[in-house]
Amino acid sequence: EGEPTVSITVVGASGDLAKKKIFPALFALYYEDCLPKHFTIFGYARSKMTDAELRTMVSKTLTCRIDKRENCSEKMEQFLKRCFYHSGQYESEENFADLDKKLKEHEGGRLSNRLFYLSIPPNIFIDVVKSASKSASSKNGWTRVIVEKPFGRDSESSAALTRGLKQYLDEDQIFRIDHYLGKELVENLSILRFSNLVFEPLWSRQYIRNVQLIFSEDFGTEGRGGYFDNYGIIRDIMQNHLLQILALFAMETPVSLDAEDIRNEKVKVLRSMKPLQLENVVTGQYKNHTKGGVAYPGYTDDKTVPKGSLTPTFAAAALFIDNARWDGVPFLMKAGKALESRRTEIRVQFRHVPGNLYKRSFGTDLDRATNELVIRVQPDEAIYLKINNKVPGLGMRLDRSNLNLLYSSRYSKEIPDAYERLLLDAIEGERRLFIRSDELDAAWELFTPLLKELEEKKIAPELYPHGSCGPAGAHYLAANYNVRWGDTV
Ligand code: BG6
Repeated sequence: EGEPTVSITVVGASGDLAKKKIFPALFALYYEDCLPKHFTIFGYARSKMTDAELRTMVSKTLTCRIDKRENCSEKMEQFLKRCFYHSGQYESEENFADLDKKLKEHEGGRLSNRLFYLSIPPNIFIDVVKSASKSASSKNGWTRVIVEKPFGRDSESSAALTRGLKQYLDEDQIFRIDHYLGKELVENLSILRFSNLVFEPLWSRQYIRNVQLIFSEDFGTEGRGGYFDNYGIIRDIMQNHLLQILALFAMETPVSLDAEDIRNEKVKVLRSMKPLQLENVVTGQYKNHTKGGVAYPGYTDDKTVPKGSLTPTFAAAALFIDNARWDGVPFLMKAGKALESRRTEIRVQFRHVPGNLYKRSFGTDLDRATNELVIRVQPDEAIYLKINNKVPGLGMRLDRSNLNLLYSSRYSKEIPDAYERLLLDAIEGERRLFIRSDELDAAWELFTPLLKELEEKKIAPELYPHGSCGPAGAHYLAANYNVRWGDTV
């Protein structure tokens, strides 16, 4: 009786994601007093471990987000006391029934809500969901399951996975995570657009020349080759993270902020897009490179990657939305590993000013005179707008300047990790930032024909040096649409 309990079972508790992201996010939520009063956390995995060993493992990655936080170690101790471990096989109904007994002891007869986080490889998703739902789902409260990508490799395997999950769960019990949706600046896209008069009226083909979605990392796939080689950058980043950002960016105004209204608009815009064509895509793979006396390995130098692998670690693509708002506007995506720097940003290049009085000040390169809005998702979160301005003085010289909202100067509060937002939402039943199955289907439909063609035709990726700005092909692709990548000018 009284307040309900929430138990969170992290299945695959000894994996990397659990250690690096899930437990630290849960602790941060606890620290901020965001977890329900009665909560218990269980780690579930095959290996034998005691509660104490789990706590030691978890505590190694717990940090307070800012150093000078008060009573952090005290809070950690309290948090760890609420963490337990249960060892079991993934397909065993019996082992999940034992977990159920332990959960019941903790619940002490209160209304029980249960959240399962599947931090495991996708080939065992269904086994776990089957045994957990049969033996360990809540009898009087809700049961929810968080799943992480990969959600299949193409339309067919993704649909099969969805069918499998839906044998045991309703759609509203499935929380498909795309952690980019939990990032502060991605969430802010809607606020920027829909609560500022100065942006939404410009948000169309009439004023926007092109939109760029750029993801780059300055490290390779070392150690993750086994996973990565089977998926490649298009499935790893574009089909999910970048496409989700695109959908939020380009969707029509939702009827309300309700999760279903938002997701309806996202599906609509995804379904208005044309599937990707091979000629609108460039792929690349990093090769070894020595810089400053340090030798950086190439993708295929990794022991976990098959020799001669053609898996792309870089891709650039041009996408189009076939609707009244965006007809003809190129949406350019670029994603790569082992590049010069780590960053994710959205760049919106506006059209030329018609009959610009000042065009002579820009010489022949009028593109340089257009406004550009940059939303830097990470690192150094910022929103800035490039405008033309007169250099102060008696002459008449124009200058490109930034109206700059740099988060670290404007806000003193640190930015929570994406997993904190998403875990909290899953506990609260807020589905806005999770992917509905029809969204997922639409996303796969855009990429599946291309992925198959790349693989069937064994298209060789263009090699680029580790730490460079990627293959030159990306520039030619953009040039086909009269676009210059904003991050390289
Ligand atoms: C994951 C990808 O989804 O996102 C990784 O599988 C990638 O390859 C990671 O490194 C990037 O996430 P973040 O939050 O570190 O930018």
